[in-house]
Amino acid sequence: MTAPLIDPFARAITYLRVSVTDRCDFRCVYCMTEHMQFLPKAELLTLEELDRLCSAFVGLGVEKLRITGGEPLVRRGIMTFFRAMSRHLVTGDLKELTLTTNGSQLAKYATELADCGVKRVNVSVDTLDAAKFARITRWGRLPQVLDGIAAAKAAGLKVKINAVALKGVNEDELFTLVEWCAAGGHDLTFIEVMPMGDMEGEDRLDQYWPLSDLQAQLTTRYTLTDLPDRTGGPARYLRLAETGQRVGLITPLTHNFCESCNRVRLTCTGELYMCLGQEDMADLRAPLRASPDDAALRAAIRNAIAHKPKGHDFDYSRQTVAGQMTRHMSHTGG
Ligand code: GTP
Ligand code: 5AD
Ligand code: SF4
Repeated sequence: MTAPLIDPFARAITYLRVSVTDRCDFRCVYCMTEHMQFLPKAELLTLEELDRLCSAFVGLGVEKLRITGGEPLVRRGIMTFFRAMSRHLVTGDLKELTLTTNGSQLAKYATELADCGVKRVNVSVDTLDAAKFARITRWGRLPQVLDGIAAAKAAGLKVKINAVALKGVNEDELFTLVEWCAAGGHDLTFIEVMPMGDMEGEDRLDQYWPLSDLQAQLTTRYTLTDLPDRTGGPARYLRLAETGQRVGLITPLTHNFCESCNRVRLTCTGELYMCLGQEDMADLRAPLRASPDDAALRAAIRNAIAHKPKGHDFDYSRQTVAGQMTRHMSHTGG
């Protein structure tokens, strides 16, 4: 047995998020600028290299693998990678293989994803108003995403909807989103907007809708019960008695959840970020390429985990944005 990955704060690291591309076919206003500079394709790890890296993590006790981006399904050949990772589900070393997607390519890939052992997907839908959706995502089209969600359901995948809570943007749709998810049988998770990357004039404080306010809104219509449920992610869940559904809240600003953090993030160039809200990272590409043997790579992973910071420093409470990251969410995949 190899020793599990334990960080300096006694947190076991069992969840790896992998951003397989920084590119995306949308340009959400809180995530990207309109004219993003993407990495040159030559910088990317190959799918074989990503396989070796992820497999090394699985060998070190990672049980949950979430594929993200950018938009993971726009990476060429990505199904080869899912297929390769599914072998770790077969052995039982991996408990969950999943992805976070904007849904645009789900109609094309849902069946194959299910065939690779994916059981559920998280799809970002901030609004059900087509015109608003086009404004938020700039390049996205709602019907295409709804078709993708339908295809995922038809393929037997459970769909969780992620909505970034945006002041003055989807506030008026709170109940619409809740009811739509209840009708479709989807869990729904709201996320507080985080200061990831410079948005060229977009002000985070203008976008910020605290989930404590959102929860107060929910209580005006529903009876809420706190649930002990954990999906291995940062959301805490509420049950809505009237609809029976689960609503998750991801509250990096109003309620820090770093003490229970179990995850690290790998980028498509082999950088390992130990925290979404800190700049420090470890380069795993050099040890990966230095030798076909994994010993140096495993040592580099252990060394990185030994430097995992306590948590992020995001803070809007003084009416200014503290803890801002220079990199965009698409770099590390949320
Ligand atoms: P489940 O397995 O469904 O619980 O997924 P998850 O919440 O781990 O994954 P998802 O990709 O849906 O994450 C939703 C969002 O939560 C991410 O995009 C991030 O914005 C946020 N998030 C996830 N992990 C962290 C974290 O460690 N710190 C912070 N601040 N935010 C996180
Ligand atoms: N703050 C919070 N969530 C964000 N996402 C992208 N950028 C941000 C941000 N700045 C969300 C997406 C998606 C998930 C991967 O991260 O909407 O649901
Ligand atoms: Fe693409 Fe997701 Fe960023 Fe939107 S939030 S631009 S869908 S990576």
